[in-house]
Amino acid sequence: MRKILVWDLPTRLFHWLLVLCIAGAWITGENEAYDWHMRFGYAILGLVLFRILWGLVGSDTARFAQFVRGPAAIRQHIAELRQPGRMHPHMGHNALGALAVLGLLLVVAVQAGSGLFTSDGVLTDGPLVERVSGSTASLMRSIHLNNFNILLAMAGLHVVAILAYALFKRLDLVRPMVTGRAAVPGNMPGPRIVSLVRALVVAALSATTIWALVSYA
Ligand code: HEM
Ligand code: HEM
Repeated sequence: MRKILVWDLPTRLFHWLLVLCIAGAWITGENEAYDWHMRFGYAILGLVLFRILWGLVGSDTARFAQFVRGPAAIRQHIAELRQPGRMHPHMGHNALGALAVLGLLLVVAVQAGSGLFTSDGVLTDGPLVERVSGSTASLMRSIHLNNFNILLAMAGLHVVAILAYALFKRLDLVRPMVTGRAAVPGNMPGPRIVSLVRALVVAALSATTIWALVSYA
């Protein structure tokens, strides 16, 4: 076994900034601090857009084409989970984890996207509320208020699954998401890690797109 870089810095930064910003949006939403709530929301929209683009042009382990697999691979992973003992080391998301990644990105996007069309009916309007009819805005508000429970449930399941890998399979997924490094078999080739300059370009593009959307829409 040898330790190599499996998660690039942009993917790790994306993950932990997303967790921080969701906590921020939750706290500010519950306390009706909507100025900051919307700022956290815009940051989350930017992060999700960044991650989608990074899934197309980022390092190998960040690419959707590399980790999104078919039902056969998912069945095989579940069969492996059922066998006692440790997992075979793998690099990047496993076939089942890939579903969690897509599901989490989707619920987060729905949450932040619906927020753009949400109004508290008193002082705070999302930036796109005026663009849609009253009935669409009220539908978006109810999506915004209800989807948050789905988001919390999925994030909870995500953490429970990670704990289960640690407890039952002796597989620590958290440390690699922090340091980027994990142990893989000596003969397994490492992923291609692309340059940070590319990540900066993608991040600037994502931030500008969200800024333009909320400023000029
Ligand atoms: C993933 C990002 C987001 C999360 C997790 C989130 C979460 C929440 C939560 C939990 C509430 C309900 C607070 C309560 O119990 O009353 C709320 C309300 C609200 N959010 Fe968000 N939000 C997000 C993004 C956004 C965005 C991007 C906007 C607009 C730009 C926005 C605008 C609002 C507004 C206007 C309300 C008040 C609705 C009302 O109480 O009538 N949110 N949000
Ligand atoms: C709101 C809460 C959270 C959301 C929305 C979320 C979302 C995500 C997403 C989208 C990924 C895929 C990463 C990528 O490829 O870009 C991921 C992976 C991961 N998350 Fe979270 N996460 C949350 C909380 C947490 C927490 C609290 C932990 C710590 C226990 C955690 C640990 C991990 C780990 C270890 C992975 C990598 C799993 C693997 O090796 O396949 N997450 N998360």
